[in-house]
Amino acid sequence: MNKQINVAVDGTAGSGKSSVMSQIAQEFGFDFIDTGLMYRAYTKLCLEKNLDFTDPQAVASLVPDFNCSYDQNGAIYIGTTDYTPFLIDYNVAENIKYVAANPQVRAKMVELQQEFAANKGKIMVGRDITTVVLPEAELKIYFDSSPEARAMRRFIQNEQQGVNPNQYQDILRQIQQRDQWDQNRSVGALKRAADAWYLDTSMLTLEEVIDKVREKLKAVV
Ligand code: C5P
Repeated sequence: MNKQINVAVDGTAGSGKSSVMSQIAQEFGFDFIDTGLMYRAYTKLCLEKNLDFTDPQAVASLVPDFNCSYDQNGAIYIGTTDYTPFLIDYNVAENIKYVAANPQVRAKMVELQQEFAANKGKIMVGRDITTVVLPEAELKIYFDSSPEARAMRRFIQNEQQGVNPNQYQDILRQIQQRDQWDQNRSVGALKRAADAWYLDTSMLTLEEVIDKVREKLKAVV
């Protein structure tokens, strides 16, 4: 398969971009990089060091030494430690907004992400990939999905997994709050690039979205 291109993907939280694009990456032989894991891993390191998240200088203090890598399955490593299992912690989710809004942290992440993508063959997913990290990517995709559709998907998933309490209205409010943070921070905000292919997944199943992306990618590679 042709791996001389990069695919940049942004979109709202829970729009299905990671599930879809990791599968597509496997199918087409791209490396998959979920950049959200970098912000999560950085947040975890801040927690380990007991840093004060409300102090931007304290948060930025880990920037000079921060480095990470991904394996072929998309797991993220700090040194030789696989951090992926630690990144769904409640504490990580609670504090990540301080990390994602920190300009010094973002500058470092962008630098590392551009290095990862330098040799092409990457599908990179995040919030600022099509606009800041890889604006010249050969294919740019913007995933969207209505807050209601995302909340309903999460609600059904929770039901299936026996998550309790499981309130649709609470889930919807959390999703709207996250969109607010993502779209309104002063650096690295989620924006739809004018030349990105726009894909609204609200009314589509996972398989339908994968089919559409597959067709699109076939036309590009
Ligand atoms: O995608 P995911 O939900 O794992 O992202 C975790 C957090 O990292 C989110 O708050 C998101 O705003 C942030 N993020 C970011 N820039 C990226 C990827 C994720 O600010 N490129």
